[in-house]
Amino acid sequence: MSLCLCAYAAPDPKLGVGRPVTEHYIAGWNIDVAPDGNNLPPGQGTVKGGEKVYQAACLGCHGAHLEGGMGPALAGGAGSLPTPKPLKAVGSYWPYATTLFDYVRRTMPFQQP
Ligand code: HEC
Repeated sequence: MSLCLCAYAAPDPKLGVGRPVTEHYIAGWNIDVAPDGNNLPPGQGTVKGGEKVYQAACLGCHGAHLEGGMGPALAGGAGSLPTPKPLKAVGSYWPYATTLFDYVRRTMPFQQP
């Protein structure tokens, strides 16, 4: 869904400033996905399909094997958080695929979210 900036909406008639907030405007911003999957958009995917997306849009910064590069490592670190050498990665501190999806949709690729 594209973001509606509603730049040409009329100002609030009573105050003469601002603009009414429309459902369409709110819908463009209301895209957060809860851990239980609430608000996920319709869709589907496969590991193979995801691999192609990763190679095209993510590998340059996160490495061919998710080991990191300009961006942080995305794999590894399971069980490492309470150790002297914690590795914060998808496997160690992202407990839900749903919130991971939400983060990636909002922020990645880093240069073009
Ligand atoms: C131009 C470089 C770049 C590209 C391309 C890129 N990322 Fe990132 N990614 C980053 C950087 C930098 C961070 C750290 C951001 C921060 O800490 O604010 C990050 C963070 C992340 C994280 C969070 C990791 C963590 O441990 O919290 C995930 C997940 C992620 N990226 C997934 C992806 C996916 C999936 C793609 C492809 C669709 C992608 N990234 C493409 C640079 C990139």
